[in-house]
Amino acid sequence: MARRIVFLGPPGAGKGTQASRAARELGIPHLSTGDLLRQAAREGTALGKEAEQHMRAGRLVPDDLVLSILGERLAQPDAQRGFLLDGFPRNVAQAKALDKVAPIERVVAFKIPEGLLVERLTQRRNCPKCGTGYNLSTAPPRVPGRCDRDGELLVQRSDDEEASVRMRLKVYLQETVPLLDFYRKRGTLVEVDADGPPDSVASRMHDAVQ
Ligand code: AP5
Repeated sequence: MARRIVFLGPPGAGKGTQASRAARELGIPHLSTGDLLRQAAREGTALGKEAEQHMRAGRLVPDDLVLSILGERLAQPDAQRGFLLDGFPRNVAQAKALDKVAPIERVVAFKIPEGLLVERLTQRRNCPKCGTGYNLSTAPPRVPGRCDRDGELLVQRSDDEEASVRMRLKVYLQETVPLLDFYRKRGTLVEVDADGPPDSVASRMHDAVQ
């Protein structure tokens, strides 16, 4: 049976970190709408340019743009054997749209104290060449500012500056938290403690997706 899983949680909860591990274990693609939108922005498509303005400000990208980019990705052959969605849905309208395309069997909600998130996100850095992620507090590179793998200069996501981070948290509380009840009522929600070292969280995520 195709596995169709959603990881839901506030910005900085560790969804991306855990989703790539869990998807590898399950043998299904990890689909991050944030990554798809950032790729479109890098490619300079009309959709990417419009999305970038919303992302930089920490707002949600309009539903029609996100649905169009995700719809294309879900139509690709590898997604027919299932997928792990990271960052989608983010509001009830998106959840209802997803129901029509591919009903979800499990939603894993990341529970984490809000106080940890701003620090985690403002300390995040990525390699623009190979995509490796670092955290200046918890997982720093060996040489400050440089990727361990290829020596490239690390960069900060434009929406990881403190003002955008605070806006993203506000948007999460207003738009995405109502999804917890939406999925709880359907019996598909599993809440997982996402605080602690990545390996401990991974073991809890492993149990939650089995
Ligand atoms: P998106 O890219 O989805 O960002 P996000 O949801 O805000 O989540 P993040 O990627 O910032 O955090 P994460 O939970 O994945 O944590 P991570 O593992 O990276 O979306 C960005 C924007 O795109 C949105 O604001 C919106 O504009 C737009 N967008 C995307 N989807 C959309 C949609 N469906 N509708 C409308 N708009 C949409 O970890 C964070 C940091 O913490 C890293 O440095 C990591 O190393 C560290 N870390 C992770 N786990 C641990 C741990 N256990 N202990 C210590 N540090 C840890």
